[in-house]
Amino acid sequence: MNNQEINIVYYSGTGGTKRVAKCFETACQQVGYKTSIHRLFQNVAFLHTGKALLLLIYAVHAGNAPEPVYKWIDSLGDVSSVPAVVISVSGGGEVIFNTACRASVIKRLEKKGYQVCYERMLVMPSNWIVATKKPLAQMLLDVLPKKVMKIVDDMEKGTIRRTKPLLLDRLLSRMGELEKIGAKSFGKRIQVSKRCIGCGWCVTHCPAGNITLKSDKPEFGNECHLCLACIYGCPHNALSPGIGKFFVIYEGFDLRDYEGMRVLSDDVDIEMMARGYLWRGVRDYLLDRE
Ligand SMILES: Cc1cc2nc3c(=O)[nH]c(=O)nc-3n(C[C@H](O)[C@H](O)[C@H](O)COP(=O)(O)O)c2cc1C
Repeated sequence: MNNQEINIVYYSGTGGTKRVAKCFETACQQVGYKTSIHRLFQNVAFLHTGKALLLLIYAVHAGNAPEPVYKWIDSLGDVSSVPAVVISVSGGGEVIFNTACRASVIKRLEKKGYQVCYERMLVMPSNWIVATKKPLAQMLLDVLPKKVMKIVDDMEKGTIRRTKPLLLDRLLSRMGELEKIGAKSFGKRIQVSKRCIGCGWCVTHCPAGNITLKSDKPEFGNECHLCLACIYGCPHNALSPGIGKFFVIYEGFDLRDYEGMRVLSDDVDIEMMARGYLWRGVRDYLLDRE
C-alpha cells in the first residue's frame, strides 16, 4: 500500500464523515502522501482514475452505505489492482447490524478491479434516533485524530485488515436496504413551517440536490437520502419530518455542540456513561477494545 498518492472520496450528510475525511487528509499529508479530496455531493461526479489509492469514507445508513456511494462505484470504469481502503462512519460502532455495512461496497469495488486491503469502522456522534451523550460525543471528536493516525500508520506499513461479517449481519444489512426506498418517501413528506423565509440554505446543502425553491418555498423531489442535513441544518428551524419522525433527534443535531471544552478520558467513566447494549460499540471504540 505504498502509493504516494491518495484520492479521498467521501459521503457525508450532517458533517461527521466530512470531519473524518478532513482528518484523514491532514494525517495523510503529515506522513508525506499527496492527497486529493472529493465529496459525493449533488451528483457531481469525480472519476477515480490512474493508480492512486482510493480511500472511500461514508456515513453508515441502516447498516449499509448510502445510495450515492453505490451509484458512484457503479459509475466507475474497470481498473487493474488499484488499492482501496474502505472506512465506514457510524453512531453505534462495530456491532451487530453494522458489521456488514462495508460488505456490499467492497464487493462492488472488487468487481471493478479494486484491491480492498483495509477496512475499518470509525465512530462519530449519532445523528439519528438517539443522541450520543455529550461527554461521549466530545470524546469521540477528541479521539478521532489518534484513531485516524493509527489507520494511516497501518496503511504506510502495508497492514492488511479485512473483516468477516456474520451471516445474520449480512441479512440484516440487506433488510436495511429498504431504508433507501423509505428515504424517498421521507423526503417527499418533509414539512415546511411558516418560519421558512426561502433563504435556500436547504437547497445548497442537500447532498442529493433534491430540493428546489418554488415561490420562495422548498420543494422536495424523489431523491432524498434521509441524511437529515436539511432538517438539522435549517437556520430557521423550519423543516420537520412528515413521516418517520423517530429518525430525527428531537433536540436537533449539530457537531459544533460537541466541541468547546476538551474532555479527558480520565474525567469520564466510559463504562458507566456508555453502559447498556445500545452503546457497547461506542464503549469498545473509546476503550480501544475493537
Ligand atoms: C438514515 C440514517 C441511518 C443511520 N443508520 C445507522 C446505522 O445503521 N448504524 C449506526 O451505527 N448509525 C447509523 N446512523 C448514524 C450515522 O451513521 C452517524 O451519525 C454518522 O456519523 C453520520 O455521518 P454524517 O454526519 O457524515 O452524515 C444513521 C443515520 C441516518 C441519518
